[in-house]
Amino acid sequence: MIKVIVCGASGRMGQTIGRMVHDAPDMELVGGINLKASTFFGADIVESKDAEALIKKTSADVLIDFTIASATVGNVRMAARNNCALIVGTTGITPEQHKEMEAAINGHVPAVITSNFSIGVAIFLQLVRESAKLLKEYDIEVIEAHHRAKRDAPSGTAKSILQIIDEEAGTRDKMYGREGMTERKNEIGVHVIRGGDIVGDHKVMYSKNFETIELSHRAYDRSVFASGALVAARWVVGKKPGIYGMSDVLGLKKQ
Ligand SMILES: NC(=O)c1ccc[n+]([C@@H]2O[C@H](COP(=O)([O-])OP(=O)(O)OC[C@H]3O[C@@H](n4cnc5c(N)ncnc54)[C@H](O)[C@@H]3O)[C@@H](O)[C@H]2O)c1
Repeated sequence: MIKVIVCGASGRMGQTIGRMVHDAPDMELVGGINLKASTFFGADIVESKDAEALIKKTSADVLIDFTIASATVGNVRMAARNNCALIVGTTGITPEQHKEMEAAINGHVPAVITSNFSIGVAIFLQLVRESAKLLKEYDIEVIEAHHRAKRDAPSGTAKSILQIIDEEAGTRDKMYGREGMTERKNEIGVHVIRGGDIVGDHKVMYSKNFETIELSHRAYDRSVFASGALVAARWVVGKKPGIYGMSDVLGLKKQ
């Protein structure tokens, strides 16, 4: 049995992951961590100040973090010094925070870190890579939509899309929305929509005179991210220390 702790256990993702871990025949939900103590799916949720004691007491195999960027670095350090593998789905992490996580993880524990655990998105990103190679001459726009409570913008997945396009089609300026007199040059337009309970939509548009090609992914339920996080959690336990992505988990080419 893989012993799992969920950090951010009372949140939207934490609740979905907690339910799936509880229902998985090969996993045991040994606890949760959040700002306030509570329970979920038969396990205790402890306050973050008691998190390290929970990891030690349960000898958890893997900690799954879906919280906020400012909390994630501390959670990663705590898991790493207790030899607990990591799944990190929290987005909005700055490059400096990422470096701090790398320092805590490398040489110590295996971790899968990605802004999107959906298996469909891993395949979608592969298609974006292929299309960006072929469509270098086209005007490119990236559009994403999420629920009204999402804090960071653009989404981590939109940033991954932009990075892939830069790698394959050459670095271009980004323009975040347009207003007023804006002459289109070679920039990539990035557009963010926030509303209601939209789970997560991403679209890349390649346009040229007389034609447009669109690639899009739409998540209908956050269980797509949770089930991908469980696939990654099963995979990561026992791997060599280091940071992995979903392309490693799924055996895909570089994402
Ligand atoms: N990688 C992916 O596939 C993926 C998918 C969906 C969401 N996300 C990201 O996951 C994160 C969480 O999303 P959500 O929709 O569940 O948000 P949410 O606000 O519903 O849940 C976050 C939870 O973390 C808790 N929290 C805050 N600080 C904490 C700390 N120090 N210790 C423990 N818990 C703490 C909050 O109280 C809250 O309950 C966001 O960054 C979101 O963008 C990633």
